[in-house]
Amino acid sequence: MWIPLEIAQNLLMGVKPIATLAHRHHSTGVNADPVKAREVFELFGRFSPVRGKDILEIGPGHTLEVLAQARVEGAKSCTAIDIVDYRSPDQAGCGGVTFMRYDGRTLPLESSACDLIWSHTAFEHLRYPGQTVKECFRVLRPGGSLIALIDLGDHTFYGVEQPQPDKAFDCLRYPEWLWNLMRWNRSSYTNRLRKSKWIKLFKEAGFVVRHEESQESGPITDALPSLPYLHQFSLEDAVTHVMTVCLEKPL
Ligand SMILES: C[S@@+](CC[C@H](N)C(=O)[O-])C[C@H]1O[C@@H](n2cnc3c(N)ncnc32)[C@H](O)[C@@H]1O
Repeated sequence: MWIPLEIAQNLLMGVKPIATLAHRHHSTGVNADPVKAREVFELFGRFSPVRGKDILEIGPGHTLEVLAQARVEGAKSCTAIDIVDYRSPDQAGCGGVTFMRYDGRTLPLESSACDLIWSHTAFEHLRYPGQTVKECFRVLRPGGSLIALIDLGDHTFYGVEQPQPDKAFDCLRYPEWLWNLMRWNRSSYTNRLRKSKWIKLFKEAGFVVRHEESQESGPITDALPSLPYLHQFSLEDAVTHVMTVCLEKPL
């Protein structure tokens, strides 16, 4: 990674017409693949049924099909919210899903408007994670759930043919000011929060953690002694790569 080039790319992506052009070429993960969308739907469905529920998805990217599936299975309403509109012209009225674009700060929804909030590999991209977690708490009804899968890895090397496994958390090498200067405007920006920090934010917002599961990175566990930038973290924070949580807003 050549830092001046990273900074230049980030500054360019701060120019709106350039960012709009670049968005057309982004991959957002599931990318509206129907098989993968079904898998994500089933993951969310493990924690809470959808029938009769008002559901919000944070950060769907190109994929409105997860919520469209929920509509088919009896959800009362489905809303997708993102900071970028990645919809293709075919998706404009996708399966009864309402799409909203916002600035990534205050969710444009009434308080207690939803029963369920879903998010798949979007929380790690939140520029204002503490605010968004509080906003999720606000827009959920008491007894409602937030289900999120969060990918804690460095997204720099995603899509690279032969990524180096011990670089999975390379983003943690950089001080925050430099990381933001290299990434803030780019889709590969990640907030780099570790597992314990997420759990703290969820609890501080008032959520009860009903379920939490994590996947650790084997290569990082093996390489840990030679990765000094990870030594500031607890072992769990240093090696957790993916976390899935089901949180409840108490009655
Ligand atoms: C890696 S993509 C994941 C897309 C989709 N959930 C999937 O799994 O394919 C991350 C998405 O989160 C969106 N995002 C980033 N910050 C956001 C925010 N504050 N609120 C809502 N969406 C956000 C991005 O624009 C992008 O569409």
